[in-house]
Amino acid sequence: MVQRTIVTMPGDGIGKVVLPESVRVLKAVGFEAEYVHGDIGWDFWISEGNALPPRTIELLEKHKIGLFGAITSKSKDKAEAELSPGLKGKGHTYYSPIVTMRQHFNLDICVRPCISFPGNPLNFVRQKPGGGYEEPKVNAVIFRQNTEGLYAGVEWTNPPENVRKAFESHKKWGTFKKVSAAELAVSLRVISRQASRRICKAAFEYARKFGYKSVTICEKPNVLRETSGLFTAEAKAVAKDYPGLACRETNIDAQMMWLTKNPEDYGVIVCSNMFGDIASDAFAGLVGGLGFACSANIGEEVAVFEPTHGSAPKYEKLDPPIVNPIAMILSACMMLDHLGETGKAGRIRDAIARVVAEGRVRTYDMLRLPGGPDVFKNGAANTKQMTDAIVAKL
Ligand code: NAI
Ligand code: MG
Repeated sequence: MVQRTIVTMPGDGIGKVVLPESVRVLKAVGFEAEYVHGDIGWDFWISEGNALPPRTIELLEKHKIGLFGAITSKSKDKAEAELSPGLKGKGHTYYSPIVTMRQHFNLDICVRPCISFPGNPLNFVRQKPGGGYEEPKVNAVIFRQNTEGLYAGVEWTNPPENVRKAFESHKKWGTFKKVSAAELAVSLRVISRQASRRICKAAFEYARKFGYKSVTICEKPNVLRETSGLFTAEAKAVAKDYPGLACRETNIDAQMMWLTKNPEDYGVIVCSNMFGDIASDAFAGLVGGLGFACSANIGEEVAVFEPTHGSAPKYEKLDPPIVNPIAMILSACMMLDHLGETGKAGRIRDAIARVVAEGRVRTYDMLRLPGGPDVFKNGAANTKQMTDAIVAKL
């Protein structure tokens, strides 16, 4: 078997806490790999003026697979203020290393599974008509286009004259003609047919591979007739190649309402960038939130796996750490799936399911406690104890 090399990028804050826990689980399940460290995050902005140094890009170019924790990003003024004195005023601009990584490697397919573990006290429950409660099994996987749409970064405050002129050629620009450029901000939603086709194809392939019954296109083509219209048309064209799968359509706003009504009815969901961001956070809220939300960013050559949570700086210094490592461990499972190690991924998910179902080991978030050093007095397990419990089940 080829020995894999995984680029581990802990990043900042609790990224440094949870990433090593996922590696511990990967080792325990018998995944054979070498791990090389990649620098990323705020410290490198301060010391080098670049939160994603070229040497980390080279590592990813070479080894193709990254496991990533989380990074801290701060406002423009703070970024400038914290930059090391020797670098100040030398034209350094802070760019989010995640966005840079997605763009550099064209990691255009973002996958965010939101799958409930029975027994998780954070699971969504609903009232039954005759009284009492029921807990529907949620098993939704959101495919989010990761590089285009409203997050493509094509935006202006005070748009230049040539841009304004171009907008003025559109008949709907009418009301903005009277507004001075200085009073305007514009973010452009750009969607290409090719990238839409790639995300839709990935969604349908996944649904078929993992036995989902339906793919839901979640857009807003009745209003965003051009961009959502194009995306939806591509999705429907792709759907023709998958006759065994039901292809459904929802509008993003209505989807936000239905998801608490009948979340069990959704399987794979495919969206453009911002709608995918919204839908995946909303579904994640039904299955445990940030302590459980995992993701994959997949390009043609490189793939990076990360929890959706950030660096939670307020918990960075707590010793022992309190945060839930499950989101990071589930992200490592997605990496295993991607590498064809679905058996090992399944064993880890089973181990997590058993720990959650038993309910003896729960991190503070699972107990709905306010975070802080006091959580242990109230019965919370620490980060390592949660990993230990999962490893013990393996
Ligand atoms: P955050 O996700 O870091 O934390 C929000 C809250 O969620 C935390 O205070 C904590 O209560 C909870 N939480 C997060 N992860 C948890 C875990 N594993 N277990 C239990 N509870 C958990 O988001 P926030 O506070 O908005 O941002 C903090 C920093 O992280 C910022 O600098 C932000 O820019 C960055 N960020 C980075 C992301 C990334 O690296 N992908 C994503 C989101 C934010
Ligand atoms: Mg988000």
